[in-house]
Amino acid sequence: MVLVALKTVHIMMLVIWCAGLLALPLLLAADHQGQSQADYTRLRLTLQHAYIRVVTPAAVIAVVAGTALIFLGNVYVPWMFAKLVAVGFLVGLHGLTGHAIIAIGEDPNAARLRLAIPRIVAALGLMAVILGLVLAKPAIPLDLVPDWLMQPRALHLPLDEVPM
Ligand code: HEM
Repeated sequence: MVLVALKTVHIMMLVIWCAGLLALPLLLAADHQGQSQADYTRLRLTLQHAYIRVVTPAAVIAVVAGTALIFLGNVYVPWMFAKLVAVGFLVGLHGLTGHAIIAIGEDPNAARLRLAIPRIVAALGLMAVILGLVLAKPAIPLDLVPDWLMQPRALHLPLDEVPM
């Protein structure tokens, strides 16, 4: 029951997150020529609010619910780690979108369709990879994982803490 509830939250939130990663760059890059200063300011504030109050919280809740699902469902399998790598890139794109929203406050020319399109294509590609991994759950052979990831490295923590 908890698993089903968490998965529902996970999927609802990631739909909002992914929709934001596609819609925000498009709105950013729309043609603002001929727009009045008041309309442009309203658009900027709408984008900021959407990013800060809707898309980012949805991303955080999707990640938290997904992390809980790993531990509750014991999903310690190679396809999940491959999925997490792709999610890491998606988080990077999320950061780039936030940066672009701040940048158009300083310079309206910072939002250009030629910048938005590669981001949207990259986001769509990553979403397809993630969905492919999570739905097909491919059996990725462990020998594809480099040796250094399979062995303890005997490295020290960067601080003087004694593990409990
Ligand atoms: C840090 C981020 C994420 C974590 C830790 C995570 C983790 C998980 C886990 C553990 C499951 C359950 C898998 C199972 O029971 O077999 C799951 C399900 C799912 N995840 Fe994620 N996920 C994350 C982000 C995403 C993203 C960004 C997407 C899509 C773009 C996504 C799409 C899905 C879908 C569609 C399911 C349902 C799959 C099914 O039940 O067949 N997840 N996720």
